[in-house]
Amino acid sequence: MSDKSKMFLKDLKNEFSLNTHQAHEMIHNFHKEMEMGLAGEKSSLKMLPSFICPPKGTEKGIFLAIDLGGTNLRVLAVKLLGDGVIETVGVSRFAISNEVMTGTNDMFFDFIVGCIKTFFDENHITQNKYSLGFTFSFPVIQSSIDRGVLISWTKGFSVSGVEGRDVVGLLNHALIRNKMESIHISAILNDTVGTLAAGSYMDPLCHMGVILGTGTNACYSEKIKNIKKLDNLICSDEMIINMEWGGFDRLERNIYDETVDKNSQNPGEQRLEKMVSGMYLGEIAKTVIIHMIENGYILSRGLQSMFEEPYNLTTEQLSHLSSGVDIFKKSGIHIAEKDREIIREIACIVSKRSARIAATAIAAVVQWIDPHLHNHHHIAIDGSLFEKYSGYKENMQSMLEEIFGDLAKKITLKLTHDGSGIGAAVVSAIEAHKRS
Ligand code: GLC
Repeated sequence: MSDKSKMFLKDLKNEFSLNTHQAHEMIHNFHKEMEMGLAGEKSSLKMLPSFICPPKGTEKGIFLAIDLGGTNLRVLAVKLLGDGVIETVGVSRFAISNEVMTGTNDMFFDFIVGCIKTFFDENHITQNKYSLGFTFSFPVIQSSIDRGVLISWTKGFSVSGVEGRDVVGLLNHALIRNKMESIHISAILNDTVGTLAAGSYMDPLCHMGVILGTGTNACYSEKIKNIKKLDNLICSDEMIINMEWGGFDRLERNIYDETVDKNSQNPGEQRLEKMVSGMYLGEIAKTVIIHMIENGYILSRGLQSMFEEPYNLTTEQLSHLSSGVDIFKKSGIHIAEKDREIIREIACIVSKRSARIAATAIAAVVQWIDPHLHNHHHIAIDGSLFEKYSGYKENMQSMLEEIFGDLAKKITLKLTHDGSGIGAAVVSAIEAHKRS
C-alpha cells in the first residue's frame, strides 16, 4: 500500500471514530432526548408507548404471528408451554418484492393475507379462530395494543395510503376482503418489542430488546410514572417503550454519511440508523471506495461499475470483505492485492463505528434504567449485523468495557434469534391471558 493510501486510511479512521469521551457525551445527549421524548416534547427519540407490559413467562397456548419489517415477511405459529419455554410449530418466509414495498396499500395488505393463506396450506392448518400478533417494524403511534397509526415509512418502504392510518384496520379490511375474518389481530408491535417479549419470556433478567439488522432500533421496559406523555389510565407499573433510536440526531456526521443521507429516500431523517444499520453500511463503504477510486488511491479497474446500482453491497458481502474474502472474483473482476487490503480496511472501519455507536446507545439505556449498574442486564438482540458480521459483537463488547470498565461484565448481549416474530405470539398470549 502506498504512503498516500496509508495516510488517507489514517484520516478515515479519525473521521469514523467514536472515542470514549464522545461516547459519554452521546450517552448524556441520549438521556436528554429520552426524557423529552417521554414527556411528549419534540425529540429525535420518539419514545413510543407500546401498551404492552413485559410477559411473566407463564402464558400458554398456540398463537399466530406475522413479522414484517425488512426484506422478508414471516408467518409463524408458536406454542408457549407456560414455563418460559417456547416451541415454534411452523414458520414460512416470503420475500417482499420492490413492487409490494413501493405499491398501493391494497396490494400490500392483500400480499400479507396471501402469505397467511400459503402458511396455512403449507402447515396443513385448517382455518380456525386464531389470535394473531402483528410485528410491524416501523414507527407507529399506538393508542391501544391493537391500534397503531404509521408515522412514516423507513428502510426503503413507501407503500401509498398507509402513513397516518391505522395499520391494524387496514390489515383487518384485507382479511375481510379475502374471507379470512376468523383471524383476530390481538396486538400490533414493533420488532424490538417482539424481541424483548421473546427474550423476557425465557429470561427474567432481560429488560431491553435491540434490532441490529436492515434497520436498527431498541425498546425497554419503563416505569409508568416516567412516561409523562401517557394520558390513558394504565393498570400496571411498567410498559415497554419503542424508542425509535434510529432517529437519534445528535451525532457528528462526516462527508460520507452526508452523501448517503442526501441520496436516500428520507434525507435528514433516521440519522443514527444511517450510520449503524445493515441497509446503509454497504452504501457508506461504497461511497468511500468510489471517493478513493476517483482520487487515484484504488487503481483496480471494474470496481466502479459493480457499484453503480444503489444499495447493492449487502451486509453479508461487507462482512466477507472485512474478513479479507475476495467477493469480486466471482464476477470476474480482478482486484490487486493492495486494493483488496484497502477495501478490507474500509469495511472494518465502517462496521467498527457502527458497533461502537450501537454499544454506546445500549449503554445509555442500561444507565438510564440502572445508573450505577447494581444489577445484571441481559439484552435480547436480533438482526443479521449482530448475528453474522464477523467481529461485530466483539467491537460492541470492547466499547462497553471502555464506557463501564469492569462493570461491563454485568451486561450480556444475547442473540435472540427470530425474537421479533416469536415475541408477537408471546404478546398475543399476554393479551389472551388478560382476557381470560
Ligand atoms: C426502523 C424502524 C423501526 C424498526 C427498525 C428495525 O428503524 O423505523 O420501527 O424497529 O427499523 O427493524
